Amino acid sequence: METAGAAGTHPLERLHRPVIFLGPPGAGKGTQAKELARCFGVPHLSTGDMLREHVSKGTPLGLEAEPVMKRGDLVPDSIILKMIADRIERADCSHGFVFDGFPRTVAQAQYLGELLKQHGFKQPLVMHMVIDPGLLLRRITGRRMCKVGGEIYNIYERPPKVAGHCDNDGGELEQRADDREEIVGPRLAAYEKQTAPLAAYYRRLGRLRDIDASKSVDEVAKLIVEVVSAARQP
Ligand code: AP5
Repeated sequence: METAGAAGTHPLERLHRPVIFLGPPGAGKGTQAKELARCFGVPHLSTGDMLREHVSKGTPLGLEAEPVMKRGDLVPDSIILKMIADRIERADCSHGFVFDGFPRTVAQAQYLGELLKQHGFKQPLVMHMVIDPGLLLRRITGRRMCKVGGEIYNIYERPPKVAGHCDNDGGELEQRADDREEIVGPRLAAYEKQTAPLAAYYRRLGRLRDIDASKSVDEVAKLIVEVVSAARQP
């Protein structure tokens, strides 16, 4: 997918501070975080993708996380924080990064604030994906992901050119284990209880920007690049 073009802007040289995508399951965090990361040439750090990789490899962390994710609950902070601390130490993060699905609790956000300070990064800018809840079920149950590159499709909204196969690499598309309709309710409940309070937390700190995530993928991408660019101004 040609992403910088969809954002309707020139690629920017550098992300001046980490960006966080915050919003309910299915709001489009992954779709937009990947797009922004590509646009700036920085890593896209999705705790959901990292956990799914552990699950598919059967690592001890994956074995611990799998039943929790299948229930639609949040994985314990201790696991997530260690994973993030290890990841941002890698050299590819030196010019910034985009978080997708992290932080998800106030404790995670507080830890992240300290971690960023320790590593000399600025405090983050938070894209708050605001969406009509009525749109979420269709987005989640229609989602299909490429087994090879992780590209995100939707059988209703963003179908691939050839059914069941990724446009980029021809990889097989699959449905996530937690995207079945019966798991969506618990995931939304976990979001409301544990993650939604983060919006107030970051708003108080002046770091939150509301994004209308109900619009089309290209319109949302354009809004996000405008917000990120505006925050770069002195
Ligand atoms: P995670 O993988 O982070 O899932 P999530 O937060 O539930 O979010 P989703 O990936 O479901 O949705 P999204 O907002 O990224 O939407 P997407 O862009 O794919 O987490 C999974 C699990 O891991 C959690 O439940 C938890 O157990 C665990 N976990 C992860 N991080 C954790 C943490 N920090 N702490 C504790 N536990 C953690 O889009 C959805 C669909 O809509 C796609 O089909 C897409 O094509 C389509 N779409 C996107 N945008 C649009 C648009 N504008 N118009 C039309 N369609 C669109």
